Amino acid sequence: MADKPTVALLGTGIMGSAMGRRLLRAPIALRAWNRTLEKAKPLAEQGAVLGATPADAVDGAQVIITMLRDGEAVLYAMNEAAPKLREGQIWAQMSTTGPQAVPAEVAFADKYGLTLVDAPVLGTKQPADQGQLVIIAAGPQAARPVLQPVFEVLGKKTLWVDDDATRAVASTLKLVANNWVIGLTNAVAETMALAKGAKVDPRLFLDAVEGGPLDVPYLRIKAKAILENDFEPSFALENATKDAALIAALAHECHVSLPVAEAMLARMRKAIEMGHGDEDVAATYFASFDS
Ligand SMILES: NC(=O)c1ccc[n+]([C@@H]2O[C@H](COP(=O)([O-])OP(=O)(O)OC[C@H]3O[C@@H](n4cnc5c(N)ncnc54)[C@H](OP(=O)(O)O)[C@@H]3O)[C@@H](O)[C@H]2O)c1
Repeated sequence: MADKPTVALLGTGIMGSAMGRRLLRAPIALRAWNRTLEKAKPLAEQGAVLGATPADAVDGAQVIITMLRDGEAVLYAMNEAAPKLREGQIWAQMSTTGPQAVPAEVAFADKYGLTLVDAPVLGTKQPADQGQLVIIAAGPQAARPVLQPVFEVLGKKTLWVDDDATRAVASTLKLVANNWVIGLTNAVAETMALAKGAKVDPRLFLDAVEGGPLDVPYLRIKAKAILENDFEPSFALENATKDAALIAALAHECHVSLPVAEAMLARMRKAIEMGHGDEDVAATYFASFDS
């Protein structure tokens, strides 16, 4: 097995924290930074070296992972890291930024001599905790042996889709997959809302589809959240809505009509306006009701 590199993790939100825990358990030497330092402290208790700034965190690391909200946050953190970046570091950009942010990431990597690997992930908090993510990766062959021991710890599978990150194939595929995720979530939410409004026990709907081709694990997970009124976020509605907007923009750019995606974006924005942005994406359920 290849030697394990030292990893700098920028971003310890829901996903970054879970990924950090996995890396520490491997064990892989971890340096970490988060804008709100408090959220990174549990990783320090498990052995991570915390950086007060992104520059502190990336200092001496062979691999830099960014797991931040969006393209803007990623570039902010990398610019702050700039004083301690050094040529040849591998930058695995694992946040969902959409292909729209990739050109700026490529330009940044070129400027500092970093090897960019565009590597968004499928899977939410629990798969991240269990090392069961699917990593969709695009980047040069030379980076793969270094990343392999890291990706093996984080994911059950790495799907290498291109050897050139500049084409943004990985980030584009991630949005295609998230259109599916967001579609499923909204379908569950609307179906549960219809049952409630029409005064049919939603559990009867779940019983009706149980074990058949219409029964998918995601239905069970999101229906449970709705039934138990437990919207502790695995994937925050705010972040999912950020992705729904990226999907709508991508569709527009490539002249594909996605009226359902547009409608989902509108209902998710409505749920945010109703105050559910920090809750799980299943809280799009509330958009089906007036209050
Ligand atoms: N959760 C999922 O199911 C899931 C699955 C696959 C991919 N993703 C993607 O993975 C990324 C992280 O998701 P998450 O669920 O971990 O989100 P999260 O819990 O909301 O964490 C977001 C992270 O971004 C940081 N951040 C936000 N705005 C920032 C800014 N302007 N400058 C610097 N840092 C900023 C946050 O710092 P603070 O702590 O200071 O706010 C935090 O570290 C997102 O791109 C998301 O779309 C999420």
